[in-house]
Amino acid sequence: MNLSTKVGGFELSNPFIAASGTYGYGTEYSDLSPAKEWGAVILKSVSKNPRPGNVPPRCCETDSGMINSIGLANVGLEKFVAEKLPAFVAANPDAVCIASLAGETLDEFLYLAEKLSGIGTIKAFELNISCPNVAKGGMHFGADCNASRKLVEEMKKISSVPVWVKVTPSTTDPVGVATVCAEAGADAVVATNTIPAMKIDITRCRPVLGNTFGGLSGPAIFPASLRIAYMIHRALPELPLVGCGGVDCGEKAVQYILAGCSAVEIGTATFRRPDTLAEVKQFLSDYMEKMGFNSIEEFRGLAAR
Ligand SMILES: Cc1cc2nc3c(=O)[nH]c(=O)nc-3n(C[C@H](O)[C@H](O)[C@H](O)COP(=O)(O)O)c2cc1C
Repeated sequence: MNLSTKVGGFELSNPFIAASGTYGYGTEYSDLSPAKEWGAVILKSVSKNPRPGNVPPRCCETDSGMINSIGLANVGLEKFVAEKLPAFVAANPDAVCIASLAGETLDEFLYLAEKLSGIGTIKAFELNISCPNVAKGGMHFGADCNASRKLVEEMKKISSVPVWVKVTPSTTDPVGVATVCAEAGADAVVATNTIPAMKIDITRCRPVLGNTFGGLSGPAIFPASLRIAYMIHRALPELPLVGCGGVDCGEKAVQYILAGCSAVEIGTATFRRPDTLAEVKQFLSDYMEKMGFNSIEEFRGLAAR
């Protein structure tokens, strides 16, 4: 079955993309879920300077999902370019790699794009304007249409690769944000990131996470993220769209495609079952055969018409 799909400026061999922050720098999972088997992998968000991340504990389990407050811990741009990217390419010469950019300001986003443009390994930028776990994790862009528009316009002027924008579910107007991103020239929109959440330890009488709040991911958020993807596709049917949030089986991935998504990111599910990718690919293939669909384009968005 032909699982190839076109999204946001290029073609992927299959629609499944490892979500940023859940696939490390692409080498950690080499044995369990090789990067070349994914349509693409998105590396951990990179910021201009190294970030230690939030106070631990930084993760906890919850019903049908997890809450993380990693706080964009990462090695910073310099080490990313000098060590992490070369190691990724050496271990995964055939993989498609997308860099996730996390800026605190417009200038920082532009600095990251400028330094990473022209590095042939990187096929697209995903702008993380939706991290709920740090005070300046981009959410001030993601919840503000004017700031989002300006960011995408400026990024498009200097970026050598397609620009994808990962929108937050924590705004009252995700369609409005997607609309200005599309008008500003975004090559794709990713819907969505985690949903702000918390958990309390009733023995310690304290919040579980060192940062008190974190982002909820996993099956718990699937219906909410799917709704946002669906609404964006209904409003902007021409905009390349990537679904993200809660996919832990092929049936949920198919729902994102029926809602209008050309590709689907998967994160938390791979922590519990590193073989999730094989399962979702098999399911998609069997589904298309059973339904008589010869390509993803044939059924993409059918539920939104
Ligand atoms: C431990 C962890 C770390 C994450 N780090 C990032 C990150 O650095 N950048 C980003 O854009 N999203 C990050 N995310 C969000 C995921 O990319 C994804 O949007 C979210 O988890 C929803 O998808 P899922 O339910 O399939 O996990 C992280 C998620 C988790 C669970």
